Amino acid sequence: MTPINQHKVNNPNNKILEVHNLVAGYIPNLNILHGCSIHVCVGEIVTILGPNGAGKSTLIKAIAGLLNVVEGHIELQGKNITGMETHRLVREGLGYVPQTENVFAKLSVAENLELGAIHHRDTMAETREKLYDLFPDLARFRNLHAGKLSGGQRQMVAVGRALMASPSLLMLDEPSAGLSPKLTQVVFQQLLKIRDSGVTILMVEQNAKAGLQISDRGYVLAEGVDRVTGDAQSLLHNPEVGELYMGGHGKSTMENVVTATTEVSEPSNGGDSA
Ligand SMILES: Nc1ncnc2c1ncn2[C@@H]1O[C@H](COP(=O)(O)OP(=O)(O)OP(=O)(O)O)[C@@H](O)[C@H]1O
Ligand SMILES: [Mg+2]
Repeated sequence: MTPINQHKVNNPNNKILEVHNLVAGYIPNLNILHGCSIHVCVGEIVTILGPNGAGKSTLIKAIAGLLNVVEGHIELQGKNITGMETHRLVREGLGYVPQTENVFAKLSVAENLELGAIHHRDTMAETREKLYDLFPDLARFRNLHAGKLSGGQRQMVAVGRALMASPSLLMLDEPSAGLSPKLTQVVFQQLLKIRDSGVTILMVEQNAKAGLQISDRGYVLAEGVDRVTGDAQSLLHNPEVGELYMGGHGKSTMENVVTATTEVSEPSNGGDSA
C-alpha cells in the first residue's frame, strides 16, 4: 500500500500526542475539562468513550486549538502545541474531522479535497492520487457534489479532505454518527487502511463496542476527566466502563451495552457547510 505519510507504524514507545492535566471550557470560569490526561503512540488507533456530555468533543476541540486552554499542556511529536492556532496545527501534522458539517455540500468531491490541501499545494496532486488509490470511490465520485453523496460517502470525503494535508495524527469526532451498523463497519475498515498507510488515529466514538474492536487502546471520560483507560479488549470487558455508560446504574460490560445507530444512507441535498 502506498503510504500517505512516512511515519513508522506500531511503535508503542513513541508518543505522538501527549495531553497532560488539561483544564478547558467554552466560557470563562466554567470549565468542562477538569484535568484530563491522555496519550497516543505512533501507529495506534485510540478511542475516547464516555456518556453524553462527558467532554469528549471538548477534549478533541481543545487539542485542535478551538478552545482556550486554562491549565495543562499538549505536545504533538514532542513539540508544545498548547494554545497553537488551528491553521498552524494543520502544518504541524494534526488533522481534525468534526462530527457534523464536515464537507462543503455544494462543492465537488475533488474541490473538497483540494481545500484540504490549501497549505500543501506542492504535494496536492501526488497526495490526491494516493488517496484515490486508497479509496477508489473518491475517484469515482470526484465530479459529484459532496451533498449528493450518502452519509458514509460524505464521511469518506471529510476524512479524505483531512488526509490531503498529510497529517501524522488524524482526530475524528464520532465518525460513525448517523450511519447504519453496516456503513459503520465500512468507515471503520477505511480507518484501518488509513492507519496502515502510516497515519495515527485518535477518535471519539459513541458506538463503543465497534470502536473498540478496531482500536488498540481507549479512554473513558466522565465529567471532564479521564476515568478509565486500558487496551481495547480490557475496556470491552471492564464492568466499570459499562456502569459509567449506564450512569452508574448498569451492571453490564460494554459488550452488552447496545448503542443506538440509525441508518442515514440517502443522498443529501444539504447546503454548504464545513
Ligand atoms: N459551544 C459550547 N458552549 C458552551 N458549552 C458547551 C458547548 N459545547 C458543549 N458544551 C458543554 O460542554 C459539555 C461537554 O460537551 P461535549 O460536547 O464535549 O460532550 P461529549 O462528551 O462530546 O457528548 P456527546 O456524546 O453528546 O457528543 C456539555 O455540558 C455541553 O453542554
Ligand atoms: Mg461529542
